[in-house]
Amino acid sequence: SEAHFFLHDLPKCEHHLHIEGSLSPALLFRLAKSNNIILPDPAKDDSFVSIEALESRYERFTSLNDFLHYYFIGMSVLITASDFESLAYEYFARAHSDGVHHAEISFDPQAHTERGIAYNTVVTGLVAAQVRAEKHFGLTSKLILCFLRNLSADNADVIYKEAVALGHFSVGTVAGIGLDGSEVGFPPEIFRGVYEQAVSAGIRRTAHAGEEGDSTYVSRALDVCKTERIDHGIRLVEDEELLKRVAADKTLVTVCPLSNVRLRCVSKVAELPIRRFLDEGVRFSLNSDDPAYFSGYILDNYCAVQKAFNLSLKEWGFIAVVAIEGSWCDADRKKVLL
Ligand code: HPA
Ligand code: ZN
Repeated sequence: SEAHFFLHDLPKCEHHLHIEGSLSPALLFRLAKSNNIILPDPAKDDSFVSIEALESRYERFTSLNDFLHYYFIGMSVLITASDFESLAYEYFARAHSDGVHHAEISFDPQAHTERGIAYNTVVTGLVAAQVRAEKHFGLTSKLILCFLRNLSADNADVIYKEAVALGHFSVGTVAGIGLDGSEVGFPPEIFRGVYEQAVSAGIRRTAHAGEEGDSTYVSRALDVCKTERIDHGIRLVEDEELLKRVAADKTLVTVCPLSNVRLRCVSKVAELPIRRFLDEGVRFSLNSDDPAYFSGYILDNYCAVQKAFNLSLKEWGFIAVVAIEGSWCDADRKKVLL
């Protein structure tokens, strides 16, 4: 359709993408085979009998935690730096074909170190893919180190200190920190300590908040963790004052429409507070979150929003510009993108 062409050509930035969530079932099975990884016994879970069975299970997630169960099994096939490179390069190639010019990709180092994969193995592979993607596609990217909220604050502190010791923040290998995983019951204040260190060191900060958790998860991420962005943030609209504050502060909210439908945070895209955000001047970007699990890459998300809200050219212009302005890229790169 006409909208599809327009949205394809609209310069896009992606800010909310878990690189482990771009692991397609095809690559999952290929790596499981080459790395001799034993997947769940079909007698216990027959989702892993074939690519088709796994894809159809992915269509029936009942919640964030139900998805996370499959997300952690899936990433267990990633062993070598080269595996992480293949994974990320596959994502960058797809993002480029969707019209993405700049991508900020999250990774979950603790999910790998907990199963014996070194932190630096993960980063080495991701960086190799970033270099190739910039060379081949002109696609720039940044890494966001996410802490898993179901693990302890001490565990987060260990991985943070490792990244600091390797100089990853100071040389810009990693652009900032985030917080993801199971939300309800794991509020932002658990991670106050590590976020305070990041504030002191001038390291950028975001956190998932207001996906399944109520609007206080958003206000606590802002107040306690001093986050500069909010990932998901859809439940922000439950607090009028907070909505106005986020708009006034120009805090970028990274919305993931198809993810929210698949994880049953809303029953359809039209239920998302996109219209509210536009009317209140809340800055937001549209993102794919875990595209291989939610069967939609970034352009699918843009098209789903257009279908549900029929936005004007001016509104799409606003979305494109605030996504660039809210990016964590260098000032000269921003100038080129604008
Ligand atoms: N929410 C929380 N944790 C996650 C998500 C998400 O949407 N995707 C991958 N890890
Ligand atoms: Zn996410």
